[in-house]
Amino acid sequence: MPRGSLPAPDKHMRMILVGPPGAGKGTQAARLVKTYGIPHISTGDMLRAAVKAGTQLGRQADEFMKSGQLVPDAVVIGMVIERISQDDCQEGFMLDGFPRTRPQAEALATALDEAQLSLDSVVLIEVADELIEDRIVKRRSDPETGEIYHLDHRPPPPEVIDRVVQRKDDTAEACRARLSKYHSETAPIVPFYEAAGLLKRVDGVGAPDDVELRIKAALA
Ligand code: AP5
Repeated sequence: MPRGSLPAPDKHMRMILVGPPGAGKGTQAARLVKTYGIPHISTGDMLRAAVKAGTQLGRQADEFMKSGQLVPDAVVIGMVIERISQDDCQEGFMLDGFPRTRPQAEALATALDEAQLSLDSVVLIEVADELIEDRIVKRRSDPETGEIYHLDHRPPPPEVIDRVVQRKDDTAEACRARLSKYHSETAPIVPFYEAAGLLKRVDGVGAPDDVELRIKAALA
């Protein structure tokens, strides 16, 4: 299929994971894609890859990300629309971290409408603000496997402990900025999806296994 055109309207499970920073979107996406067999499209991961590769997009995004600000809509929208037009998204996709502004939600809706496609579900993982900072500052990830750890709840095993890294935006200060952006920019998309009858609220507090079961029940 040519880049820029969306897949034919044949199959399903086009879904979005929404939630505050540290809600567990990445942790749950890694589990869910194994069940649903659809690609996990994380705009945060895509942008971090661009920063690491030193591309023009990465240089543009880096300053916004480090300080916990959002990367401009025009940059992110083009990146996602291009990504979901690729062949591996024919049978669906799981968006993680997109949309996170009202213009992004509207751009996605327009692109899907034009391709005569629709979303199946939007899962909102809910975690109270006071639990977020601990999750963020104690997160570590394995650059080789992408595995996500937490220093207390899910400590990196001895064989990977020397190579785990901390994200540049996982400081207490950037976390507060991200949370503030979540409330001002991203939370307003929740009513948009609620009005469309797509929203499923899931409690994100508890063991990751339990959260996974709640999400699967909500999607069933
Ligand atoms: P992004 O990478 O999307 O970050 P985020 O939304 O802030 O989410 P996180 O990755 O921090 O958290 P998560 O919900 O995935 O939690 P995780 O599973 O890792 O975006 C980063 C930046 O990129 C943005 O700030 C922005 O600058 C830019 N950006 C990205 N998309 C953009 C867009 N669409 N528009 C504009 N800018 C964009 O878990 C967190 C921790 O909690 C881990 O340590 C984990 O082990 C632990 N944990 C997970 N589940 C549980 C549980 N149930 N109990 C206890 N601990 C848990």
